[in-house]
Amino acid sequence: MRYLTSGESHGPQLTTIIEGLPAGMPLTKEDIDFELARRQKGYGRGRRMQIETDQATILSGVRHGLTLGSPIAISVENKDWTHWTKVMGISPLEEGQEEEIKRKVTRPRPGHADLVGGIKYGHRDMRNVLERSSARETTVRVAAGAVAKKLLSLLGIEVAGHVLEIGGIRAKTPEYPSLKGLKEKTENSPVRCYDKEAEVKMMEAIDQAKKDGDSIGGIVEVIVEGLPSGIGSYVHYDRKLDAKIASAMISINAFKGVEFGLGFEMARKPGSQVHDEIIWAEENGYRRKTNRLGGFEGGMTTGMPIVVRGVMKPIPTLYKPLQSVDIESKEPFTASIERSDSCAVPAASVVAEAVVAWEVASAIVNQYYSDRFSTLKELIEQEKLNGRSF
Ligand SMILES: Cc1cc2nc3c(=O)[nH]c(=O)nc-3n(C[C@H](O)[C@H](O)[C@H](O)COP(=O)(O)O)c2cc1C
Repeated sequence: MRYLTSGESHGPQLTTIIEGLPAGMPLTKEDIDFELARRQKGYGRGRRMQIETDQATILSGVRHGLTLGSPIAISVENKDWTHWTKVMGISPLEEGQEEEIKRKVTRPRPGHADLVGGIKYGHRDMRNVLERSSARETTVRVAAGAVAKKLLSLLGIEVAGHVLEIGGIRAKTPEYPSLKGLKEKTENSPVRCYDKEAEVKMMEAIDQAKKDGDSIGGIVEVIVEGLPSGIGSYVHYDRKLDAKIASAMISINAFKGVEFGLGFEMARKPGSQVHDEIIWAEENGYRRKTNRLGGFEGGMTTGMPIVVRGVMKPIPTLYKPLQSVDIESKEPFTASIERSDSCAVPAASVVAEAVVAWEVASAIVNQYYSDRFSTLKELIEQEKLNGRSF
């Protein structure tokens, strides 16, 4: 499976084209809209999220509620586009019109893609960079992730994401939370946090950052449950599923680090406190006493839940701007302000769920490929049993 996204932040729409999904899988617009709405929530988002109410339009690949096996194209309209038709127009500019087109960006923001993207592509108006480097693009990654999540849930595999930390405030969570309990608690939390006490402090930290004209980052966690063992592979570096998930997490705007299970803590513990002991029982076959490795051995799922965390840096656009240089005058300037969030960690946890779901679904489809969804389902059910009888 693969997918491509296109679209600019203030262009008419965002689009994704998904290829490789088997035929006969139930899929509706509501499946996608549900996830889009989750991405838009979250304490600390700016005004843009009030303007947009994202809705998916499925343009191809689905008929009467079932996938056809052909590419699935999904678009999401940018409501804000109506205010940007001139600035983001497609037609060449006529003489003298350039002056009319406001919002030219010549002051790059430290920490964003503006300056390096401008140098790389030769854009002296760095709007040409920020329109695409903006995290608005993650809208359609969430749409593609919604399709992946649907496939996984039909195979009995559930994905949940939540916020572990914002601005240095860490949530207390049970070591092995049930996904149902986790979803119930975090879905109604404005910061997608399990721990009510931490939730209040996180919101205060966001308020403070906003007051200071600053921004704050955090840590999100994604858990995937119900997997058979052996998804991914140890035989090729590029088929290791943990590596693919790590790459997908880092591909999310502003994500700078990834860890599985005990993660970086492993460096400080002896092997006896890191590896998961193996047990066997008639009713459910092989299990692990613990899940410190976060569900992976040798790039393959162990059958235990995948537990992966990603760290998001604070958003680069600050109302208290950092020093930068105007690329026209070369004079020092305080960086320009685009409309911005002060903290997008809660929304980022929904994006993280989407990209992890995509990698897991993609590995499953590649490994048990069938043109028909019903056959894929049978193969996965069989695989879950194989793991038990080995
Ligand atoms: C959900 C989400 C929302 C974001 N919102 C903003 C924002 O409002 N302003 C901003 O400057 N950066 C925002 N970012 C981060 C930038 O898109 C990101 O820092 C930028 O593309 C540069 O990429 P890099 O940080 O990965 O190097 C957001 C990221 C995510 C995941």
